[in-house]
Amino acid sequence: MTPESHAPTGTDASRTGPPPGCPAHGLGPGGLHRLHESEDLGALYEQLRDEHGPVAPVLLHDDVPMWIVLGHAENLHMVRSPSQFCRDSRIWNPLKEGLVKPDHPLMPHIAWQPIASHAEGDEHKRLRGAVMGAISTIDFRSLRRYINRSTQAIVNRFCEKGEADLVSQFTEHLPMAVMCEILGMPDAYNDRLVEAARDALKGTETAIASHSYVMDALSRLTARRRAQPEEDLASYLITHPARLSDDEVREHLRLVLFAAYEATTNLLSNVLLTVLIDPRFRAQLNGGQMTVPEAVEQSLWNEPPFSTVFAYFAKQETELGGQRIRRGDGLLFAPLPANVDPRVRPDLSASMQGNRSHLAFGGGPHECPGQDIGRSIADVGVDALLMRLPDVELDCGEEELRWTASIASRHLVSLPVQFLPKPQQDVTETPNHNHVPAQRSDWQIGSVQPRLQPAPAAPQPQPQPQPAPAHPHPQSPVAEPVRRKGVWPRFLRWWRGY
Ligand code: HEM
Repeated sequence: MTPESHAPTGTDASRTGPPPGCPAHGLGPGGLHRLHESEDLGALYEQLRDEHGPVAPVLLHDDVPMWIVLGHAENLHMVRSPSQFCRDSRIWNPLKEGLVKPDHPLMPHIAWQPIASHAEGDEHKRLRGAVMGAISTIDFRSLRRYINRSTQAIVNRFCEKGEADLVSQFTEHLPMAVMCEILGMPDAYNDRLVEAARDALKGTETAIASHSYVMDALSRLTARRRAQPEEDLASYLITHPARLSDDEVREHLRLVLFAAYEATTNLLSNVLLTVLIDPRFRAQLNGGQMTVPEAVEQSLWNEPPFSTVFAYFAKQETELGGQRIRRGDGLLFAPLPANVDPRVRPDLSASMQGNRSHLAFGGGPHECPGQDIGRSIADVGVDALLMRLPDVELDCGEEELRWTASIASRHLVSLPVQFLPKPQQDVTETPNHNHVPAQRSDWQIGSVQPRLQPAPAAPQPQPQPQPAPAHPHPQSPVAEPVRRKGVWPRFLRWWRGY
């Protein structure tokens, strides 16, 4: 509890750390924990909570000092107090003092950009207003139908095999397919785009090229819609009274695409894991009940898609959680430890049904404006997948599942499942009301059974199995007419069948 030990200049770059396995491993100058060296961040956050209370001093790469906000109330106070804390990294002391090198691994998060996430005050209102205005034009009923149809098209790619890795074959695809449609570039959705987004976010040596691939697609979309607006998010951003420049439009399309892709992929994976292993989902086995939306909310509590968000910065000297925070100090907003704060969840096994006060979507002026889209993709996507594969079950022991974690998030590496092979479903036929799956609570999930045998050849609803569609567009899964109508008229046309 000694803020002085957290002096921004109190680092010693020449120090070499002890080897892994040594009790001092993971400790830096001043005995502070290096977050990036931890092998179990969840456990470290609890240790920090015990040692320091709801706000703890830690170190990032290169021993850059930072606070991590662990308490639910303290996180909420920080994000809701724009007069005390902002998202503008240009006031961050370690950056101003040259402690943060240009090649710092967190630089993509650190570098200030002229986007809503980093903006404050009137500028934030202008940029966020355009994003919110564009999102408000979305018809969620039609969106849910589109998510359902996209799920069908993606499941068609593996349903005949009787096994799949739901991360690489489903959860990484559905958000991208849906976001491409929402943005106004359904033709851009393909395996390459998913791969590029994944690679750009991982920060591998090909990340820059992958990032350029995504940005090129967004630049082309911006130019097309500037010339000829349609009914999609890109057009509404362009025509919004906030008068965004082309650069601002492109940067906000990027923000939306990456935020939505990464977070919703994580959410989908976590929800699928929950429904596969949580006994409350096996209603018919034990009389318990958990619907898909409840599984989504439970997962947002237990495994928020962003464990921490970089970062908030103190605009003035202040106090938070018993710590003296100096002007220019940086603080990690941290939904993961906040959501398990014993002051709000004394019993972690207790159901959080009906309680949406988790911090997975942030709060205050920067609260996620896309949360209803994220929730819809998870609700409808999981429901529709279970409708197609009601006998799906985990194809490995729960303890064999591998996770990869960074300070920002924790991902399931893969989610192997098995099921009886199913025929493809025609995603081009005019649907009846049954195509939008009703919420179900009686999925037969997760019971441990012997390896499934392939079903006898089932009658195919289509004469020819379709190759993996380039995108799951309602009218034509392969080729798109040159002149495309707006997304909502297209939904209506598809819905009515003319
Ligand atoms: C499960 C899915 C999602 C999760 C968990 C999530 C979470 C978050 C979080 C934690 C923040 C930061 C809040 C803060 O700084 O206090 C954020 C910001 C943001 N999110 Fe999401 N998000 C999700 C999906 C989406 C989607 C689908 C979109 C767009 C359609 C979106 C667009 C944005 C934007 C534009 C911001 C910046 C808002 C601002 O700074 O004013 N997100 N999101």
